[in-house]
Amino acid sequence: MSDTLTEKGSTEGMVDYNENSQAQRQNANRHAGLIRDLAARVSGLSDQLNITDYGCGPGQSAVDTVSPAVEHWFETRPDKQLSVCHADQPGNDWNALMKLIHGPEGYLKGDAAVQVRTSVGSFYERMMPDQSVTLATCFTASHWLSATLRLNAPETVWFADLTGENRSAMWAQAEADWKRFLRLRAEELQPGGYLLVSTLGAVPEPGEINEVAASGRGIYRALQHVTEEMATEGLLKRETADHFVFGLWFMTSDEARRPIETDPFLSKAYEIDTLEAANVDESGDLFSTFIDSPDEYARKYAGYVRAFACSTLRSQLFAPSAGSEADIDALETEFFGRLERLYREKTSDFAFEQWFTTIVLKRR
Ligand SMILES: C[S@@+](CC[C@H](N)C(=O)[O-])C[C@H]1O[C@@H](n2cnc3c(N)ncnc32)[C@H](O)[C@@H]1O
Repeated sequence: MSDTLTEKGSTEGMVDYNENSQAQRQNANRHAGLIRDLAARVSGLSDQLNITDYGCGPGQSAVDTVSPAVEHWFETRPDKQLSVCHADQPGNDWNALMKLIHGPEGYLKGDAAVQVRTSVGSFYERMMPDQSVTLATCFTASHWLSATLRLNAPETVWFADLTGENRSAMWAQAEADWKRFLRLRAEELQPGGYLLVSTLGAVPEPGEINEVAASGRGIYRALQHVTEEMATEGLLKRETADHFVFGLWFMTSDEARRPIETDPFLSKAYEIDTLEAANVDESGDLFSTFIDSPDEYARKYAGYVRAFACSTLRSQLFAPSAGSEADIDALETEFFGRLERLYREKTSDFAFEQWFTTIVLKRR
């Protein structure tokens, strides 16, 4: 059962994000046609068209997400004032992002007159003025919860393997956050505007723990394996390891839909356009192309996991077991060294299977 709430845990301050965000970039590009289509649907709404990308991150995926809308509006509505807002937390690498926006693959090519803005804060608070956003996007970010529950759950570091009261406590937090996120965006969207959320998801699977298969189950079970190993060897405090759970929830389509349909404010505010969870990679392994080269395969996985999990692990798992920054660094090196070794030895036993939940809502 939950005992306390710890500080916000997220991917703030991610390392090597652009090098290790292949899945996120693929996901943004998979949605390019949909973003262009939504941009077309809203282009007559106002003289000021704005796309805001919540939880934008620092990488090329942030550019790829907004580019189809910017290009469409620029081609078809050169008379309008166009703006893009990138919204994320203070620890995001804003300099890296600005370089990409202004670089050869950025969206400021030619004489495209587009205002670039940033909003720095949390998407669990207001990030934009009232009714100022025409098209809102949020890619692989809203599954990070506003707070991390501290649970007595020695068996796992991951929400989907929690059972009983632990699972209920985590879902209560996840559902409250989802509703809050949607309420805040409803205030920021122009009437008629759209919100597109693409988040790591989950699908029913008989026989799986809780009868649900969630994205990344291999990865999080690998993280649990290393955590348990290091706690057993006394490198991590047992108490910390037993209570640490990533502040994440990957929703099934039912979990995403129910709050929108049953909450009195949300059901009035939004019309559901699309809401589905789907497997996006038939191979069931993000790095399947490297499977014949275990060293490379393991490096890819360790790099990928480090990019999204490192800051959370440093603050919530390593720091309580360390006396100094140097100790935290050493634990990080040890942890990811072990993770890489695990992937080299066990390869696809811990493969990253991806289910994404896509939600498109129209602001009434
Ligand atoms: C995995 S990255 C995704 C970045 C980008 N959207 C993409 O698809 O590549 C998750 C991002 O969500 C941001 N994030 C997490 N919680 C957040 C919050 N409460 N408010 C704003 N951004 C948040 C993180 O800082 C991080 O940049």
